Amino acid sequence: MKAQNSYDKLRGGYYTPIAIADFIVEWAVRSPDDKILEPSCGDGSFLNVLITKTICADAIGVELDPSEAKKAAEYGYPVKNEDFFSYYESEIENKEKYDVILGNPPFIRYQNFDEQYREVAFRLMKAHGFHPNRLTNIWLPFLLLSCEALSDNGRIGMVIPAELFQVDYAAEARNYLSSHFESLTLVTFRKLVFEGIQQEVIILLGEKQSNNKGIRVVELDGLNELIAEEQKCLATAETKHLDHSTDKWVKYYLSNRELEVLRQLNADPRISSASDLYEVNVGLVSGENDFFMLSRDTVEKWGLEDDVMPIIGRSEQVKGIILSSEEHLAIQNEGKRVFLFTPGDIGIEDVSENAKKYIAWGESQQYNANYKCRIRKHWYHVPMSWTADAFLIRQANLYPKIIINSAGALVTDTLHKVRFLSGVNGNAVAAAFLNTYTLALSETLGRSYGGGVLTFEPGEMRRMRIPMIGAENLDITQIDQWQRNGKYKEILAYTDMLLLKEGLGLSDSDISLLHSIWGKMRSRRLSRKQST
Ligand SMILES: C[S@@+](CC[C@H](N)C(=O)[O-])C[C@H]1O[C@@H](n2cnc3c(N)ncnc32)[C@H](O)[C@@H]1O
Repeated sequence: MKAQNSYDKLRGGYYTPIAIADFIVEWAVRSPDDKILEPSCGDGSFLNVLITKTICADAIGVELDPSEAKKAAEYGYPVKNEDFFSYYESEIENKEKYDVILGNPPFIRYQNFDEQYREVAFRLMKAHGFHPNRLTNIWLPFLLLSCEALSDNGRIGMVIPAELFQVDYAAEARNYLSSHFESLTLVTFRKLVFEGIQQEVIILLGEKQSNNKGIRVVELDGLNELIAEEQKCLATAETKHLDHSTDKWVKYYLSNRELEVLRQLNADPRISSASDLYEVNVGLVSGENDFFMLSRDTVEKWGLEDDVMPIIGRSEQVKGIILSSEEHLAIQNEGKRVFLFTPGDIGIEDVSENAKKYIAWGESQQYNANYKCRIRKHWYHVPMSWTADAFLIRQANLYPKIIINSAGALVTDTLHKVRFLSGVNGNAVAAAFLNTYTLALSETLGRSYGGGVLTFEPGEMRRMRIPMIGAENLDITQIDQWQRNGKYKEILAYTDMLLLKEGLGLSDSDISLLHSIWGKMRSRRLSRKQST
């Protein structure tokens, strides 16, 4: 069944394709005596498979939505129509353990996570030693509390958002899972397997006790491969050695040899850490782009020339790695809104006459009532800190880049601000950033959601590493030109030669391994765009 409306979206009502439910049940259930729990059973995909395939009598489902719970109950197992966390607190905590827990927990962000249930979920998480926060999505307590409810020899089989691999708020969970289960298998898909939603998922299979210890990743193309291969696909997995507490699991897609090169370079003290080169922070939030972001025509119409500053509002506006004043002028000529209204953080009586008129017009449109504007001392003043020496792409399609801000422009939060530390040659950093090691690393640091775009928060950009030996010899103008013409292969051939081969002494085969890491991760991410 396909989720169709926002109600379904808010309750995380995306149901599991039968092939996946079948696969999980087949793997997880070992004996007719297994005691089984489905904590968010929806209309009963898993219960349906359970009753059809096995003769297990002892299974129970929980589901919040009354009409779905009713449908699920038709498969013959008891279904509790209540919030899983409340049920957990009253019926499971210190009372019950299950041999098998399976399901597909909802995906609901903190702010949409019903407060009364969230409160119980967080209380239980804390009681089990976890540290939920305002980023915690509901799937996480579903997963972790289910793990805690397993018997000593229990198995869990769950459909989980692939962000388990990526997001910082799941770091604690990654660490926990890797030590809680003797064997952990993660089945990943190159194509999206849920119809109609951009949610990338994995199948997590955990065994509390196993002879086959370690963490494995099985990479499948899509549902068809799962259907064709069935349980056989689990035999092909390679065991990966990783530092679970720090590494994001996204690296499980790489071979051990590739991981080894990456690990060596990540520990190489000759490569500069971003935090030794630059500070990075979010761009400004206007609170109301329709009012604050102006085209040149609008600036002229209102006579606001002295009340605006140049700004960049979209990463596509900058094609190269240098933003010059001439380029900003060219963007203005295209009619783009690249001026920010900045009358100053001063009382209305002190702003210019034209700005006063413009502010009055803004108030007539009720822009001042917007939350972001309302909480400011002067609603028409967008708070801003330092001006950026450069920008960093926040959402990259092919790869991230640093753009030198020669135009002295401000930037909105669609890009990040960069300030180079004193004594650092910013041009050399921007030029050196585009090498195959840094780009491969960026794929492991950034996160990507269903749409295939690679997103970086400032924290991730601070963990970037850039080989700087020889970087001052790079010709940034040449790289900028190549970048504008889409010639990234030329850029990388040039920078890899100077920085990786000559600067760090890497062999050609190591460099080609880096290419394969980068290519693998990038195409995996991008393939999700067109997949079904
Ligand atoms: C992703 S669906 C999965 C349904 C089913 N397990 C499947 O795989 O087809 C998640 C389900 O969780 C339910 N749900 C959301 N919040 C819940 C809560 N606090 N307690 C129990 N169920 C909840 C939703 O109504 C939805 O049916």
